[in-house]
Amino acid sequence: MTLRIAVVGCGVIGRLHAEVLAAEQDTAVSVLVDTDAAAAEALARTLDPRPPVTTSLDEALARDDVDAVAICVPSGAHAQIAVAALGAGRHVVVEKPVDVTVEAAAPIAAAAAAAPDGTVVSVISQHRFDPASVVVRDAITAGRFGRVTSAVATVSWWRSQDYYESGAWRGTWKLDGGGALMNQGVHTVDLLLWFLGTPVEVTAHTGLLAHERVEVEDTVAAVVRFESGALATLHATTAAYPGLSVRLQVLGDAGSAVIDDDRLRYFHSKELAAAEAAGDAGVGADRGDRADQTARVLPDGEEADPAHGPMFTGHARQYRDIVEAVRTGRRPGVTLDDALLAVATVEAVYESARTGAPVQVAEVLAGAIRR
Ligand SMILES: NC(=O)c1ccc[n+]([C@@H]2O[C@H](COP(=O)([O-])OP(=O)(O)OC[C@H]3O[C@@H](n4cnc5c(N)ncnc54)[C@H](O)[C@@H]3O)[C@@H](O)[C@H]2O)c1
Repeated sequence: MTLRIAVVGCGVIGRLHAEVLAAEQDTAVSVLVDTDAAAAEALARTLDPRPPVTTSLDEALARDDVDAVAICVPSGAHAQIAVAALGAGRHVVVEKPVDVTVEAAAPIAAAAAAAPDGTVVSVISQHRFDPASVVVRDAITAGRFGRVTSAVATVSWWRSQDYYESGAWRGTWKLDGGGALMNQGVHTVDLLLWFLGTPVEVTAHTGLLAHERVEVEDTVAAVVRFESGALATLHATTAAYPGLSVRLQVLGDAGSAVIDDDRLRYFHSKELAAAEAAGDAGVGADRGDRADQTARVLPDGEEADPAHGPMFTGHARQYRDIVEAVRTGRRPGVTLDDALLAVATVEAVYESARTGAPVQVAEVLAGAIRR
């Protein structure tokens, strides 16, 4: 089965989707859609085979060679396109964040609920498919870190003033939904929730410290308390020149891990150390109680495809998951509910920063707190 996909939005990320879909074995680009005809034309010229282009979503949805729609337009326009695609009986892949607020994304959930069984809706969160993320999540689920007590998440990036001025939608509440946390940091929020579970309460501060004429924050510092009792600090900034890394430390009472720029930098599990010591007394003794076990837990040959780079590889991995979900009827690796929870957590951060009070994530999710 080849999943034939209409790519809607032919900017920075639409280009990546089209390249991945054209290169992967089980996917194809059936049509490119952009309200800016020149953007769609420019992308079409780079693809082989060259797909048709249109400025009309309706025209794309009327085609009989479109199984799914990939939504790569500015964040605040995701829901309207997803609802139209689901209403036309298509599977849907939505770029992150799913939309700019839980409220704005709610029509997608309603359209998904009304869609025929087997309709797949997945939201891009490509870092869930990084080998480092999978190893850490598996270790947590198997109890290899014992009780996960805390996490430290930081997105320390730099975006220039020119970046915010490169598109009228960037840095606006209406179409970007927020700044450093909603746009750049939502990947890390999603991983944090995937690792630590349900977030309960958020306390946060935000600032616009190194940019001008931007509505949203360029710096966030927050504390998140989870249902399990675990505590996390969450920091995201686009004001850290020249741009450092994205780092996530997951810390438990029987093991810990550090992921930095998508790679596993440290992994230690007491259980693994004990098993190694039992299997080979010399090995355990040599490596010590705090030894880094990274080399032993990562699968071989799973690094980013050197011909394409990490962005391509991440999206390609997620598309393989989506194709499998369509083929087998199983849930995709990233569901709509996962994406709504990430957006609710980011909204809770903004609400806490605005009011100075702690915010319950469940209340944001239930629509009791709206921006
Ligand atoms: N997963 C990731 O790592 C990642 C990276 C970058 C961007 N994104 C997400 O992708 C989305 C797009 O970001 P971008 O940087 O590619 O933006 P962009 O401005 O480069 O491209 C957006 C494109 O959408 C077109 N467009 C706007 N409204 C449209 C509509 N209603 N119908 C059809 N086309 C329309 C524009 O003409 C433009 O060509 C955002 O939601 C962003 O958060 C995700």
